[in-house]
Amino acid sequence: MALSVKDSDSIPVDPPVRGDPITGERYYAARWAEAEWNKLWTRVWHVGGMAADLLDTGDFLTHNIGRESVVMLRQADGSVRAFYNACLHRGYRLAWTEVGGAPQLVCGYHGWRYNPDGMLAHVQDPDDFPGGSPCGKHRLTEIACDVWGGLVWFNMDRGGPSLREWLGENVARHMEQWQMDKMTRVYAVSSNVPCNWKIVRDNFNESYHLPTLHPQISTVINDDHTDCVFRIYADVGHNMMRMKGLQPSARYETCNQLDVPLAQALEYWGLDPAPFAGNAMATREAIIARKRAVGAQMGYAHYAAMGDEEIVDYFHFTLWPNTTFTMWPDGVQILRSEPHPSDPERCIFDHWFMAHQIGGSDVVIGPNGPTSLQAVDREHIVFGEKTLGEVADQDLSVAIGQQLGLHSRGFRGGILANQEKRIQIFHERLNDVCGIHD
Ligand code: FES
Ligand SMILES: [Fe+2]
Repeated sequence: MALSVKDSDSIPVDPPVRGDPITGERYYAARWAEAEWNKLWTRVWHVGGMAADLLDTGDFLTHNIGRESVVMLRQADGSVRAFYNACLHRGYRLAWTEVGGAPQLVCGYHGWRYNPDGMLAHVQDPDDFPGGSPCGKHRLTEIACDVWGGLVWFNMDRGGPSLREWLGENVARHMEQWQMDKMTRVYAVSSNVPCNWKIVRDNFNESYHLPTLHPQISTVINDDHTDCVFRIYADVGHNMMRMKGLQPSARYETCNQLDVPLAQALEYWGLDPAPFAGNAMATREAIIARKRAVGAQMGYAHYAAMGDEEIVDYFHFTLWPNTTFTMWPDGVQILRSEPHPSDPERCIFDHWFMAHQIGGSDVVIGPNGPTSLQAVDREHIVFGEKTLGEVADQDLSVAIGQQLGLHSRGFRGGILANQEKRIQIFHERLNDVCGIHD
């Protein structure tokens, strides 16, 4: 049965823009980084890590963003709570690994200990404190925390919207079709990259660059903007773009030529490629029908909860302000840029991939080809020494050049195509959030 995904009619998905100029300064000036820290990063929901890493009481995740560090702990009742990762005694950072677990968090400076609920449980020389032992009287500073889509999320603003409210019903219900909570993270690479975080954001908020930068995907993904679907959820700041999968780019007159990757996809799904020679644009519809007919018996059980478009196309959800979830039929690619602790001209780039198991197979197809279906920790690499994935490397190669060009007195602000509207909307929202309009 094909499910249809329909947004609530009350929410416009193509709001007007004001036309605010997008000048270079925002990509390098300290005043922007300062405003973003105070008014943006400390007030939005962030992905903190994988819920699957928190099996037992006391298991924890840490995530550093900017100069801040957060620790998320599994509680005895099964819930997850998050705290600032700083000892109440004299401020030493408590947890130093991204994944760990212990009955208590122990500070490495003077040995104070905290229970998983953040309560101070043990200090050295308790009778030496004015008013008696501080144990049981102080708790680590708590922030908002929730679990959704197999991910642990945190928000430093405890007075803000719930995670569900922040996601918005349209986006949350749509993304739930992919059942991320049943996936395994098989790839997670991170690097300190020499460009402002918004350059990466802008890149993932448009597909105009695909023919120039990623020509290799035009044989299997239709990147013609007239075939794409764009939705902008102005109420929550998120957006979505859908590109048709298993269909060549309609940009080219030769689009109906059947190239090898599509022929292989047809064969994989038990279809003879011969009738599609000269009619490659028809591959997508034929494979949708085959996936519906034989998907379950071939091990693709998750298709039962997904619509026809979802089992073949690529849905890019960019969640405000900095995380893109590219939903593949069988996995999710997460691409994120976070602010550097002190340098506005650098950011922390994350590339994760989460995948469904197909049948009993221990191999999945990820962004870099076949990958072992094994949960991995986040790997931090020195930028340039190792790949961040072929497509991500291509994106970052221009991001660095753009960071240089945006300093030029000759750059007078962007000139955007209609299909880059999500960039314009993003910056206008950022102007409003940061309170900078000059
Ligand atoms: S700073 Fe943690 S025990 Fe002293
Ligand atoms: Fe790209």
